[in-house]
Amino acid sequence: MKALILSGGKGTRLRPLTYTGAKQLVPVANKPILWYGIEGIVAAGITDIGIIISPETGEEVKVKTGDGSRFGAKITYILQNEPAGLAHAVKIARPFLGDSPFIMYLGDNLIQNQLDPFLEIFNKQKLDALILLRPVPNPSAFGVAKVDENGRVLQLVEKPKVPPSNLALVGIYFFAPSIHEAIDQIQPSPRGELEITDAIQQLINQKKHVEACNLEGWWLDTGKKDDLLSANQIILDSIVASTELKVDATSQIIGRVQVGEGTEIINSKVRGPVVIGENCRIENSFIGPYSSIADRVTMIDADIEHSVILQGAKIVGIHQRIVDSVIGQRAQITNAPPRPKALRFMIGDDSQIELV
Ligand code: TTP
Repeated sequence: MKALILSGGKGTRLRPLTYTGAKQLVPVANKPILWYGIEGIVAAGITDIGIIISPETGEEVKVKTGDGSRFGAKITYILQNEPAGLAHAVKIARPFLGDSPFIMYLGDNLIQNQLDPFLEIFNKQKLDALILLRPVPNPSAFGVAKVDENGRVLQLVEKPKVPPSNLALVGIYFFAPSIHEAIDQIQPSPRGELEITDAIQQLINQKKHVEACNLEGWWLDTGKKDDLLSANQIILDSIVASTELKVDATSQIIGRVQVGEGTEIINSKVRGPVVIGENCRIENSFIGPYSSIADRVTMIDADIEHSVILQGAKIVGIHQRIVDSVIGQRAQITNAPPRPKALRFMIGDDSQIELV
């Protein structure tokens, strides 16, 4: 069994962060989303992993994630020149996949469940494909499945206007090598992509064995800001506190808080669950529950809660509480007096600022 993780794509829904970085590397509780997927796959006993990368962000994914040794795995990087669809990614990975069955995992997905039980069903029943489903309130935004009472998949449609059910495809699939033939038989969809749903539909039409399992635990597609913040909240709920925290006498740490090497906390209050990375400076500030602060962040006279702050960002002199926010690498928010008379910005394309 091999694994194929898709870490290419455009990431339009997480702009502007994805102009400069891979969305799969955006941290959740200070760990790249992609790494949770790798760890889950390795925990299920699969260590031969291919990762699809794009020309724009592939180098960053490679440098950060490495050859797999840190996960006890062997990683092969596969360049996809254009984000031409999930089935296209499988097509170009064929030399890596060979005749092996494989799990395909979308690199921005995060699930609570372990993969072993699904892998067991896939292997025992000798399926051509096993897909995971989850009821959602807005099925039109997803690939949607119609399933009979025995879990056999009858129909799959990509982002249907009139959905045949409320069961969305979670971005985790198990395939036998027969999927390659099915991919060879499909054409690009109206949006110009080779769709994996069309390939699976092809298997269904050929009366191959395609089944579905319902995913009971939580599932987050972190390609959107609110899901990213939810993922951060869920993961932070399970952290354990660092045992030794170096803070000055006027600072207060409440609840479960992790702090990295070289970080200074001065005259500040941190209320967990919170993770703070290495070499940060936190001064005269409040950091509230469900915040993740990456390495080398500076916070002086600032107040933040339920937010994700990326590496090297600087927040200085902001007296209103910053909530539900994602602040990109090296972004700076500085010097608002208590009641600012004016606000001065230099803001990149697709940034969002809400004064609430
Ligand atoms: P999506 O989130 O469906 O697509 P996207 O990354 O282009 O994002 P957006 O909709 O915000 O523009 O992709 C799911 C995952 O698969 C994601 O991790 C990116 C990856 N992917 C590829 O590696 N190659 C592809 O051709 C496509 C379409 C996606």
